[in-house]
Amino acid sequence: PDLLLLNGPNLGILGRREPEVYGTATLADIEDEVADEVADRGWKVVARQHDGEAEMIGTIQDSYDTVGAIVNPGALMIAGWSLRDALANYPSPWMEVHLSNVWAREPFRHQSVIAPLATGLIAGVGALGYRLAARALLDRVAD
Ligand code: DQA
Repeated sequence: PDLLLLNGPNLGILGRREPEVYGTATLADIEDEVADEVADRGWKVVARQHDGEAEMIGTIQDSYDTVGAIVNPGALMIAGWSLRDALANYPSPWMEVHLSNVWAREPFRHQSVIAPLATGLIAGVGALGYRLAARALLDRVAD
């Protein structure tokens, strides 16, 4: 079984992107950690990062056979309506993750158009959030 790990705009430069906000782990580190978390169950991680909403939608449409997904939409959380519609048609459980606690930050970050569709949401615990999301999906998915 494959697990989709989908990261949105500006997350490919993690590690050197505002490290005081997003931490020093790189996206490769995070992908390794998620892979480690689900390895015992025999799940493989399909990791994708796109800066564009269109590419994210394409990946979701190509991933209907994955058992679950972890999605950090970056700033597309705020008004990514097309991303939202793509996720509405995604058939398996998925978790929204934010490294930072977006609700402790600027008001423009306080809205997520995708959160109402998510199985759950983890924010504010840094890279650990991805591991926790993986654990939540292991718990939620019967395979
Ligand atoms: C983020 C929070 C968003 O507000 C921001 O635009 C990001 C990263 C996070 O992981 O904390 O790109 O999704």
